[in-house]
Amino acid sequence: MNTTYRTSTINNRRYLGNKYKLLPFITRVVEAECPQVETVADIFSGTGAVSSAFQDKILITNDLMYSNYICNFAWFGAEDYDPQRIAEFVTAYNAKTGCGENYMTRNFADTYFSRRDCAKIGYIREDIERSYKRGLLNRRERALLITSLLYAMDRIALTCGHYDAYRKGAKSEGSLELCVPMAQVHNNPLNQCFNEDANNLVKRIEADLVYIDPPYNSRQYCDTYHLLENVARWEKPEVFGVAKKMDRSGMKSKYCTTSAPRAFETLVQDIKAKYILLSYNNMAEKGNGRSNAKISDEDIMKTLSKKGSVKVFEESYKAFTTGKSDLPENAERLFLCTCRDGA
Ligand SMILES: C[S@@+](CC[C@H](N)C(=O)[O-])C[C@H]1O[C@@H](n2cnc3c(N)ncnc32)[C@H](O)[C@@H]1O
Repeated sequence: MNTTYRTSTINNRRYLGNKYKLLPFITRVVEAECPQVETVADIFSGTGAVSSAFQDKILITNDLMYSNYICNFAWFGAEDYDPQRIAEFVTAYNAKTGCGENYMTRNFADTYFSRRDCAKIGYIREDIERSYKRGLLNRRERALLITSLLYAMDRIALTCGHYDAYRKGAKSEGSLELCVPMAQVHNNPLNQCFNEDANNLVKRIEADLVYIDPPYNSRQYCDTYHLLENVARWEKPEVFGVAKKMDRSGMKSKYCTTSAPRAFETLVQDIKAKYILLSYNNMAEKGNGRSNAKISDEDIMKTLSKKGSVKVFEESYKAFTTGKSDLPENAERLFLCTCRDGA
């Protein structure tokens, strides 16, 4: 068997609102303004990019989507894993042919992926679960292999990165190839990863720095990434419509609706931290309707000022506008609140 394989790092995936490129800006602000930070809670963690910049601290990650929780646990989980075992599974999966019919071929053949890639995705996902149940993988190893599969799917999906639609009749540029995620074997044993509504979680945790990066417009992440979520959960639900989405009614975020300002207010009230750092861009009233920010600057300042003293930092970046308008460069802002009654 060919035992060569490629490796991947945390940023080898596409994700809306991913802050990887902003890490120098974020860490500069934290280093200059937030002394004595030992615990960082990244409570809308997405890919976990921001957490990856604070791996010398105790990390708390959280995301409403199970697929993100799994990736976060793969990168930052407190359980050790055997890198050799991951390499062996990845090599065997890449070599596998003749995967047969399964949930993926029945529902997604020749949509986002070719029939052959669907067969392989379904086979691999089923085998990860079987191997975990037989005790051949621990929880962290299961998460690493699912992460490897999700990243591999993202690389070949016939989409522009979002699963709202697939490019009909387009041919895949490559076939599914899993990479070995280059995750630290031994993370801080006090790290914790959660998969829940941030508004509930903050009632039970404390951290020196809480980083908040909520969705800022009406685009629900569970709609955009339904297929990755479906494969990560592997509950094999019925799927509907042209985009073949599952029922996502329990997965919607308040931060994409008109109740976002109120949700933000109660979130901030309930946070126990020395510092709260918020990323929120300035698209309000500028882009097309769906891109408009749900929480105004006035609401942000009012809510944070009740909690402590607030400073705003800005850095320009190129906005994502689905090509509908030619907006000038936008500023990504960081709102830093030094809490009056810091934990
Ligand atoms: C802007 S993205 C975060 C991106 C992340 N900082 C990164 O660098 O990849 C917002 C994230 O918040 C999650 N989310 C939305 N509503 C949430 C909620 N109520 N509680 C926790 N996570 C939520 C979404 O699933 C999404 O991954």
